[in-house]
Amino acid sequence: MATSSFFSPKVYFGEDSITFLSHLNHKKVAIVTDDFMVSSGKTRYLIDAMPHASVSVFGEVKPDPNVDILKAGAAQFKSFKPDAIVALGGGSSLDAAKGIKVTLEALDQNHRIELIAIPTTSGSGSEVTSYAIISEPENGRKYPLIAQALMPDVAILDPHLVLSVPRHIAVDTGMDVLTHAIEALVSTGANDFSDALAEKAIDLTWRNLPLIYNDEKNIQARMHMHNASCMAGMAFNSAGLGLVHGMAHAIGGMLHIPHGKINAMLLPLLIEFNAEQASPQTLERYLKCAFIMGIQHDCPRQSIAQLVQQIRNLNQQFAIPATLKKLGIDIAAFERLREQLIDAALADGCTASNPRQASPQDINQLLSLIVG
Ligand SMILES: [Fe+2]
Repeated sequence: MATSSFFSPKVYFGEDSITFLSHLNHKKVAIVTDDFMVSSGKTRYLIDAMPHASVSVFGEVKPDPNVDILKAGAAQFKSFKPDAIVALGGGSSLDAAKGIKVTLEALDQNHRIELIAIPTTSGSGSEVTSYAIISEPENGRKYPLIAQALMPDVAILDPHLVLSVPRHIAVDTGMDVLTHAIEALVSTGANDFSDALAEKAIDLTWRNLPLIYNDEKNIQARMHMHNASCMAGMAFNSAGLGLVHGMAHAIGGMLHIPHGKINAMLLPLLIEFNAEQASPQTLERYLKCAFIMGIQHDCPRQSIAQLVQQIRNLNQQFAIPATLKKLGIDIAAFERLREQLIDAALADGCTASNPRQASPQDINQLLSLIVG
């Protein structure tokens, strides 16, 4: 293994961990969030937790943030000069806050801003990664930006903030967590530290996501999923991801499919694809994943077939369809985009660390399998 390093913000977790906010001694705090967080009173709750801070709220983040959102946020905060940005919301708000932070720091290079990430969904892991996904609506592209400056300084994982997430979103984002963990485990950048976190994230997700599906108010299961999301984020931040994410960014961006859902649909196909020509080390890693999910078979190939089947069963249980046709996507529109989708998947920053190198023909075949 080549020399590696492992970065992580300070992480506060568990019920009522949001109260740690009151211990942070910032004078000027900028909150980056969406209009729902403002109208539902969650933003007010944060402001009340920081009675000594002067606060400015930018509540205009939309799903799949683009450069215009970053510019608007930076314009609002430029003269305010915050010493901290609190990012409150799902992956979109966290990624937008990262972009606004680096934009402000680029405008005034002597001004260092602390970034505090408070996720309200259990999925992206953005609170502990140096990734930000920024969209370009004109061509439907999503770009993963990767830079150490995008890593938050503090992450707060309070399960009460995810309790009201509806279960169809909880399972989509939860399948994103499972995909992060499995892709990190078999990635070409996997290492002992990322393995430990990925394996635990798979275990927690496998046991707790079905519990949330059956009972949205299960606070213990919500807490474990929130922690799993963070651990999977730490794992892929260190190890990298793979072709599920490379293809999901392309398909999801151009056809407007929720990120976790398209990952869940692609994951079984990519395990089959990768395992077909896998090194002994990659096979062993998929077997480890199967073992965590309770699959033990004398024949390794049978174990991997069962792993794929278990993930398909989970998708079925969560009402996540197996094909774009069943999802109601306009297939003629998909076919018009096919060449662009192949190019975008190959160029995506996540594709390079997939354990099996894919050719344009391979991706074309995988696209045919997902169409249905
Ligand atoms: Fe993801």
